[in-house]
Order: sequence, then C-alpha cells, then structure tokens
Amino acid sequence: MAKRVVLAYSGGLDTSVAVKWLGEELGVEVVALAVDVGQGGDFDAIRRRALDAGAVESVVVDAVTEMADDFVVSAIAANVRYEGKYPLVSALSRPVIVRHLVAAARRFGADAVAHGCTGKGNDQVRFEVGTRALAPDLEILAPARVWGMTRADCIDYAAKHAIAVEATKEKVYSIDENLWGRAIECGQIEDPWVAPPEDAYTLTRPTATQARELTIGFEAGVPMSVDGRALDVAELVAELNVAVGAYGFGRVDMVENRRVGIKSRETYECPAALALVLAHADLEDLTLERDLAHEKARLEPRWAELVYDGLWFSPLKEALDAFFAESQKHVTGEVRLSLVPGAGGGPGSCLVSGRRSPLSLYDHDLATYDAGDSFQHGDAEGFVRLWGLPVATWAARQGGRQGASPS
Ligand code: ARG
Repeated sequence: MAKRVVLAYSGGLDTSVAVKWLGEELGVEVVALAVDVGQGGDFDAIRRRALDAGAVESVVVDAVTEMADDFVVSAIAANVRYEGKYPLVSALSRPVIVRHLVAAARRFGADAVAHGCTGKGNDQVRFEVGTRALAPDLEILAPARVWGMTRADCIDYAAKHAIAVEATKEKVYSIDENLWGRAIECGQIEDPWVAPPEDAYTLTRPTATQARELTIGFEAGVPMSVDGRALDVAELVAELNVAVGAYGFGRVDMVENRRVGIKSRETYECPAALALVLAHADLEDLTLERDLAHEKARLEPRWAELVYDGLWFSPLKEALDAFFAESQKHVTGEVRLSLVPGAGGGPGSCLVSGRRSPLSLYDHDLATYDAGDSFQHGDAEGFVRLWGLPVATWAARQGGRQGASPS
C-alpha cells in the first residue's frame, strides 16, 4: 500500500476533496501538483488551497511552453482532428501532466500517483496508461472512481472538512481548459438534440464587426509568426485564440466515441487550434509531394486516435511522429486567413484566402492554361494510353463491366 502520493491537482472540487479523502481514508501523505497548461487561474490560491485541504506539499509547475513546443507542435504536424472534428484539447494536456506527475513522484519520494477522474471518461485512461509507460513501478490511485460520492456529496464533504471550494450544487458545465482550447460537458449539452447555449462559450463569443486577414508564417511545419511578427508557439496560440475567437470561429459540437465505450455529446471551442490546422494543412497542399501527402493523410487519423486513447507514450505514436517530422522539412511558407463576422452576430468564418512558399511545388508554368505553358502536351497521349491499358485489356478480354449501358 502506498505511503506517499502525488496527486494531479486542479484546485477544483473533486481534487480538493481527494486531497483530504486520500489522507483520511487511505492514510497516505498527499503531495498536490498543479500543472499550468494554459488553463488560466490563480495558481497561488490553488497552491494554498491544497495545503489547506491537508496536502503535505503543494507545487505548481509552469508547463505552458512545454505544452506548446512538445505537444501542440506535434499536433499541428499531424493536422490533428479526432473523428475528423476534435483537435484533442484535453487529450493533449494529459501526457504533459503525466510527465510532471512522474517527475514529482521521483522528487518527493512518492510511491504512487493519483488523479481525480471518474470511471466514465478518457482522462483516467490517459493518466494511467501514460504513467505506466513512464514509471511502471508507481501505484496509481483513482479516489473519485471508488469513493461513491455524487457531486452534491462532495460539496457536503468539503463543507464538513472546511475545504474551501467555489463549486455550488447548481453548477451547469464541466469545463476542461488549456492553451489548445476548451472542452465543455454536462448540463443541457448532454442532450445531443439541444443546441449548446451561448453561455457555454467564452473563447468564441462573436464580438468582431469588421472582416480582417491574418497571415500565419510556418517554418518546417511550426507556426512562427503572425502578420510577420515572430512569436513563440505558446504566444502565437494564445494570440490566435483571441483574434480568431472574436469571429465566433472554433466551435465544435459533436457526438464522440470515448475509449471507454460511451458515446458522448461534446462541445469544444478551439479557435487557434482549428485555424492553425486549417492553415498548416493548406500549406502542406502546396509543399508536399503527392504520394507523401496522401500517405500522411492516411496516418493522421491514426495519430489522433492514439493520442485520444492515452497512447502518447507508445511505440506506434513515436514512429508516426518520426514520419511526420520527416514530412515537415519543406512545410515552410505563409498562409493568409480571411476572417469574416457572421450574419446577425452569430459565428463567423475563417477561410484560407492565399498561400505561398519558397519551397512550393506549385509550378505556374505547368499549371497555366495561358501563354507560357511549359507542360509537354504530347506526353499526355502515351501516358493516358498506358494508364488505361489494364482497363482496356480487361474490357477487351472479359467484356468489361456488366450493366455499362445507360438505362
Ligand atoms: N471528451 C474530451 C476528451 O476526452 C474532453 C474531456 C474533458 N475532460 C474533462 N475532465 N472535463 O478529450
């Protein structure tokens, strides 16, 4: 049985109750670890709250740059969209937190780590599978999976033990937020037929009234600048969340397949993520050779699925990263995004209106239908004949396709 545990601490109701509960029920010493992945909030207050709840140590780690440079950059290279839609907001932050949980367990001599996830979600999978990949010797405790308390019970438990929490029994949404976006669950959204209420959104309130353009510069697949201003990736993402979010762009409303077998209605707002993937994928259209582009597109959904499923630290995910890294060598250039406010104050649009690259594979002289055409038209005749040769042979010898005549 564990003696000392490092708990992934958010400062919210569940993990605050967990600090106390782990001490009271399991008799372990709790080290609270809050990881800043860009979710915002008062980390001094969060650190103190854990101590007040009974933690023997309480630490805060700033992992925003790490999240941007090691995780967001890979996600952009993979044009990340789980099930074609979700750019992996929560899924991308969990392995960042796991890294720090394991490091803190070593630093504080803990023999276990803990998280505040319930048994119904994906995040428990990500915490636990990630931890087992990095530190198979550590025990993993999941108090919220075993304590059998409802949200109201947790609020009562906090009151009884004088744990200061902001939660009220009427809380509508469950929110998970980081640099890469915001996931909104629970409340009315649990009915897939009900439109997400406007108050669920904070990053994508459509406030802009004028259309504008934004130029994103990439080097080897990494976003480096906005309108010619060099920014580090964390700054760039934060800035785009505001600039693009002001157009109400970045919302995702979907029914998603969780790893644990449940279909759930999910709402996300991720303006920077969707804009960057849109721009990046477009620059790849200009700079990736055809076969490479097609094969990469086949592998991208697999990468998203692996990360969604908690397999950030896994051999296939690492091998895919190596493939994507190789593919990004020439993804350098600029993409111009056109942002337009929506009609009637509703969500607007973000579309690519131009792209250019010093390494572009677009050859105007080959593509043009005007003067200056350098395409060898004569070559086409033989090429097309040979391309169609197998089909012509099939048609001649085996009669071709049945039912080929129009009815
Ligand atoms: N369904 C999303 C995912 O699995 C969002 C999870 C949000 N997490 C949370 N603790 N509210 O990535």
